[in-house]
Amino acid sequence: MPENTSCIANTLVQAGRPEHRQGRQVNLPIELGSTVVFDTIEAFEQARDHRYETGVNYYGRYGNTASFELERMLATLEHAAGVTLTSSGVAAISLSLLALLKPGDHLLVADHVYGNTRAFCDSVLARMNVSVEYFDPMTGAGIRKLLRPETAVIMFEAPGSGTFEFPDIAGIARVARQAGVSTVLDGTWAGPVFCQPLDLGVDVLVYSASKYISGHSDCMMGVIASADADMHGTLRRTVMAIGDKTGSQEVFLASRGLRTLKMRMLVAQQAGLEMARWLNQQDQVKRVLHPALPDSPGHRFWKRDCTGAAGLFGVIFHPCSDTQVNNFVNALEHFAIGVSWGGFESLVLPVKPVRSARAWDEAGQLVRFNIGFEDTESLKADLQSALPLLNSQTDTATQEVDTYVEQD
Ligand SMILES: Cc1ncc(COP(=O)(O)O)c(C=O)c1O
Repeated sequence: MPENTSCIANTLVQAGRPEHRQGRQVNLPIELGSTVVFDTIEAFEQARDHRYETGVNYYGRYGNTASFELERMLATLEHAAGVTLTSSGVAAISLSLLALLKPGDHLLVADHVYGNTRAFCDSVLARMNVSVEYFDPMTGAGIRKLLRPETAVIMFEAPGSGTFEFPDIAGIARVARQAGVSTVLDGTWAGPVFCQPLDLGVDVLVYSASKYISGHSDCMMGVIASADADMHGTLRRTVMAIGDKTGSQEVFLASRGLRTLKMRMLVAQQAGLEMARWLNQQDQVKRVLHPALPDSPGHRFWKRDCTGAAGLFGVIFHPCSDTQVNNFVNALEHFAIGVSWGGFESLVLPVKPVRSARAWDEAGQLVRFNIGFEDTESLKADLQSALPLLNSQTDTATQEVDTYVEQD
């Protein structure tokens, strides 16, 4: 495993705090504002000419002192040349792809990507005449065989947030660099605490700060971090050209979330693993998909590239009907039903994987769990009393793997 996360801990606490401490609050302010005023036309022109740069106050849509500070914090954590904040994780993904692709390009997308990434590629990008091809997320360096002269970008996720295969990040990034193809990785699951994908050769790291970073299910935000300064400039100009903008309150919430991110992720990891191992022992469970468990797909890459695991994982229950799964989910009292994850609350969601490169042929019913900060013994007791609903003999077992259900 990579080295421990102690320096990250210092950055999380100390970055983005005022340099002059005398009489200053330790937090970033909620900085509201649109117009920025100048004393001279020369100062105005200077700001206008550099308005795409982090730190230049020109007009609210381009950012402000607090959002620049958060971008710097995240750039430090990710060892990035630059970071641009967006209004959501989906905006970070779609704007990155928009910035890097043009009509006629070929885009390779891992088959396990988040549902809205797939939806964006299949709708907006397809309409732009980008040729979208899905690949097996466990292909690794074998992706070389899929490259064409017009391949411009490889988009992948570590791990897939519905089916949890952990890809060979470095293997894919190496092949892409050799071929002059850009890589975009959705690294939301591990976040800045447990993985640094830019150090593994990824060009653009995107994630949803709506999950663990803000951490309290009260904030929407996305992050685009680039390894290279020129690419950062291209991405930032695209975000600004579209007019995407992170709210000031969200900047405050995300920067506050960063202060406790490591602690929350360590607790989520511990509770998540405890619950995953416990579920693995239950009769109704066929398999647990959790990158930190040895038989989970891509476990060895997770072990090589990450220092820890989030509290989000999947469980494949033995074949049973959708009705049985729904009855099980409805019976849970400590797990709420809802999209998203990475907040304080436990969540449960049935998932129907969508696949294009290779059919999802795993028999059984997939259910995703986000383990929150409730007492784990209470969570187990809750599951224990609902699990028998999956055994009921009255309903014929069915498999429906062709329905598209977006999971956030
Ligand atoms: C892996 C992953 N990436 C991106 C997103 C999108 O983030 P947001 O909800 O902030 O748009 C989500 C969830 O919503 C996600 O699970």
